[in-house]
Amino acid sequence: MSETSRQPARLDFPMNSQRASTFVTINPDVLYFGTPVAVVSTCNRDGTTNLAAMSSFWALGDRFIIGLGSAGQTAENLARTGECVLNFPSPDEWQGVEKLASTTGKRDRQPYHDAAGIRTVVQKFAVSGFASVAAKEIAPLRVADCPIQVETRVLARHVATNQPALLYFELRKLLVHVREDLLDANGHVAIERWSPLFYVFRHYFGKGVRLGRSYRAQY
Ligand SMILES: Cc1cc2nc3c(=O)[nH]c(=O)nc-3n(C[C@H](O)[C@H](O)[C@H](O)COP(=O)(O)O)c2cc1C
Repeated sequence: MSETSRQPARLDFPMNSQRASTFVTINPDVLYFGTPVAVVSTCNRDGTTNLAAMSSFWALGDRFIIGLGSAGQTAENLARTGECVLNFPSPDEWQGVEKLASTTGKRDRQPYHDAAGIRTVVQKFAVSGFASVAAKEIAPLRVADCPIQVETRVLARHVATNQPALLYFELRKLLVHVREDLLDANGHVAIERWSPLFYVFRHYFGKGVRLGRSYRAQY
């Protein structure tokens, strides 16, 4: 427990509300409230494909922003080659993702790797048990086990303010591959058959029941 979280909690009570909620100020170690998981494919110098689990990303239009630690092989490969596949696993793939979790493609290890219990593994397909399939427009291999795969190109790289160990990459979508059985008759992803794999405070989840639809939902 950190110093800050040992301090007495400050309680906030809602104004103008009949609800009995109270709020406590906390200092969590991570802010991973819940995001989908992706497996990122990038090309190593020798032409082989590196795979890494990640969850710090979001999409807007045809762009993705992904957040990567600078000590990893994925960040190094992305900066050098400018291309990657974002492979989206379903809950069925969580164990393969977890097999990647404690591995790095880096041969020149950083103190971060030992602190996090991460070992060097260059054969990421073998360790994960995932099968590969060629991409169409870029060099890194896609993960055939992941039902959705997006080929992307890097548009920009940004170093986090006062945090050189954290990088953000802006990616542009090139091609989206979807496993055929997940498509409905109109060629849309059938939302009742697709679930992302979610990462919630470092635990894996599938999606729950559908609660409703947004007014923007088209199908
Ligand atoms: C589910 C999951 C999500 C992760 N999300 C991220 C992430 O968003 N960014 C990141 O830099 N590392 C993330 N990691 C940690 C990396 O996978 C880990 O540092 C790995 O060693 C990177 O491999 P590489 O060095 O071969 O790129 C995540 C790990 C897991 C298991």
